[in-house]
Amino acid sequence: MNIEEKIQRTLAELGADNAEIVQALFAEVRAAMEAERQGLISGGAANDAERQKACRALRDRWLARKNGIISAIDEHWLKPSPRELKPLVGRAFNELRQAGAELEVSQLASGVPIKPDHRSAAQAGEATQVQPASADPVAAPDLTLPGAHRALGSLHPVTQVLREIEGIFLELGYRTETGPEIESVYYNFDALNIPETHPARDDWDTLYVKLPGSKDNAAVLRTHTSPVQIRAMEKYGAPLYLIVPGKVYRHDNPDASHATMFHQVEGLAVDRDISFADLKGTLDFFVKKFFGSGTRTRFQPSFFPFTEPSAEMAVSCWACGGKGCGVCKQSGWVEIMGCGMVHPFVLKNGGINPKRYSGWAFGFGADRMAMIRYGVTDIQLFYQSDVRFLEQF
Ligand code: PHE
Repeated sequence: MNIEEKIQRTLAELGADNAEIVQALFAEVRAAMEAERQGLISGGAANDAERQKACRALRDRWLARKNGIISAIDEHWLKPSPRELKPLVGRAFNELRQAGAELEVSQLASGVPIKPDHRSAAQAGEATQVQPASADPVAAPDLTLPGAHRALGSLHPVTQVLREIEGIFLELGYRTETGPEIESVYYNFDALNIPETHPARDDWDTLYVKLPGSKDNAAVLRTHTSPVQIRAMEKYGAPLYLIVPGKVYRHDNPDASHATMFHQVEGLAVDRDISFADLKGTLDFFVKKFFGSGTRTRFQPSFFPFTEPSAEMAVSCWACGGKGCGVCKQSGWVEIMGCGMVHPFVLKNGGINPKRYSGWAFGFGADRMAMIRYGVTDIQLFYQSDVRFLEQF
């Protein structure tokens, strides 16, 4: 009795009344299916149309809902099978159905080569091994499966703060400017009125860099964004309104408030009749936008070689509103930046006439701003790339 005949009878009619005979029957069916599949693959096809046709015929023979072999097995073997054999028959049937999935035309077709056409190959003088997969671009992977899910990232908290700060100053008509992170000693120090003998050079714990080909340590990793003041003055002249967000480097031991690399934002305004009142007004506007409209500012005298007079600006503590708490160490104020009127020497070094123009400048740490804004107590957290920390922002 061949398979076509067997599948028209029930298991009882075939005398299959125990597990062994049932399994043997299914094994026979699966072997037949595999043999036909292999036969098609090794036989090849004369061309693409032929190949599709042969694949479709094989699929219909096995998988067609009506009159397909697997459907017939379902109808005649599985459904009427006796209760005690049903789990076994069900399992074997499912395995058969899964094996049958490979007879889907696209899967099958991708494994069936097209026979090389010797005549045209000789004429064309080239190999004609057709890549079967290329014939059907929708072959192989199951396009109905869900795609790989990738979690959405977000901007780093320091980047978010930098963008917000840029936004506030762009609104005021400032431009953003960048400069090199490997900077010459001239721009980082000399041009900013910090001569080599000046003790203030020690204030910036500097990382020196040896450039290829040079004998001395002529370059530094910039210790602040202030060198871009000079570069921008040389490039654009006056009047000038700009901010410089960027990375800076210091030879500091890492701890909760120090990192070898951190971010600064420099600000510079140069124009006719710029006064300290402009500095105070602009910075007051900035912190009210950034920390909230209730924020107050406080200026205290300070020293920087490139500003005269110089000041340290503090804002009323955003956590307690100025009453005194742990964040502001009970003082009610949090110091956030250095600032002052641009030193005449610096304007001159930038090619701007200090008799005609005056300016003001500031510089602050953007990481510190992010720490204040989000209540982060350890700067190192920003640079450890711990997703559990970063995804909170
Ligand atoms: N460059 C100074 C620093 O790194 C900050 C500053 C910039 C101060 C501009 C005054 C004016 O500490």
